[in-house]
Amino acid sequence: MSTVPVPVIDNPEGLEHDDDGNEVDDKDSAIGSDVSVYTETLRSSLLESIRENGRSYHRYHDGSYALPDDDREQERLDMQHEMFLRTFNHKLILAPLGNQPIHHVLDLGTGTGLWAIQFADENPEANVIGTDLSPMQPSMVPVNYGPRLFRQAFDALRPGGWIEFQDASMPIRADDGTMDGTAWADWVDKFMDAMQKLGRDSAAPEKYAQWARDAGFINVTRVDFKWPQNGWPKNPALKELGRWHLINTLDGLHGFTVRPFTAVLGMSVEEVELLLMNVRKDIANRRIHSYWPIIVVYGQKPAVGSPQ
Ligand SMILES: C[S@@+](CC[C@H](N)C(=O)[O-])C[C@H]1O[C@@H](n2cnc3c(N)ncnc32)[C@H](O)[C@@H]1O
Repeated sequence: MSTVPVPVIDNPEGLEHDDDGNEVDDKDSAIGSDVSVYTETLRSSLLESIRENGRSYHRYHDGSYALPDDDREQERLDMQHEMFLRTFNHKLILAPLGNQPIHHVLDLGTGTGLWAIQFADENPEANVIGTDLSPMQPSMVPVNYGPRLFRQAFDALRPGGWIEFQDASMPIRADDGTMDGTAWADWVDKFMDAMQKLGRDSAAPEKYAQWARDAGFINVTRVDFKWPQNGWPKNPALKELGRWHLINTLDGLHGFTVRPFTAVLGMSVEEVELLLMNVRKDIANRRIHSYWPIIVVYGQKPAVGSPQ
């Protein structure tokens, strides 16, 4: 896709503007005029991908996100979106909006945009904007970026408006010691080390609730879920989710790994491939009871006149 969504938050007419302030006709939307997700074409130089180790990465703010944005990663994200829906009982958001009218919705880090498109479909009255660094698509949020983002969101929201974060947190873990000493545990340590060296806190979702309160949000609620790494659980719903997650992780593993482990940790491509051979065996091994913590945090900007 050759477009990148543009953040327009306070835009009562729902009109887009280009860099020169001219209105952009919504016929230009890549999604279609019946769905209010607006996009704007980026300068072509920014749309050229960076190719590395057979993968492609977005050029805009190169290096600020560690994963590729090629077709392979986009397919994985679309599958992961379906996993989020199954995890949340087919809801797009958990925040209790009730009958509150929905005016503007901003999907930060929208990826392939599936969430934003579905939300816009289900809420035709809402003006839904998805933004991303990549013209297609932390989850890994820089340590000092998190509190600033929450404050910016607070300032941008109408009184009574809601913010919601849905994210996977690190470390991937097992509660019964079955992951100890495995190549998979080694991979997780190395991944977190690489993220830290890049200045990113891969456990940032653990702090979202506090950051939301610090920014002034009320009714801050955290809901925890788990994605089992494979079909190891006895519970049938979790077993199925685990089977999906195994496929999704196998699809994504090379993309998660190759850039941070070579460019940041200094491993050779051969060393990375060798490690991944063992990691693939471990994540498919049902005797290793690992899972990814999935954290949802939502909160509300106080209505005018309500006690803070
Ligand atoms: C794991 S993907 C999730 C995509 C989508 N929300 C989904 O659920 O399928 C994270 C996305 O965040 C984007 N991203 C990372 N850092 C960003 C930033 N600082 N600003 C905007 N987007 C960012 C990445 O390019 C990537 O598309």
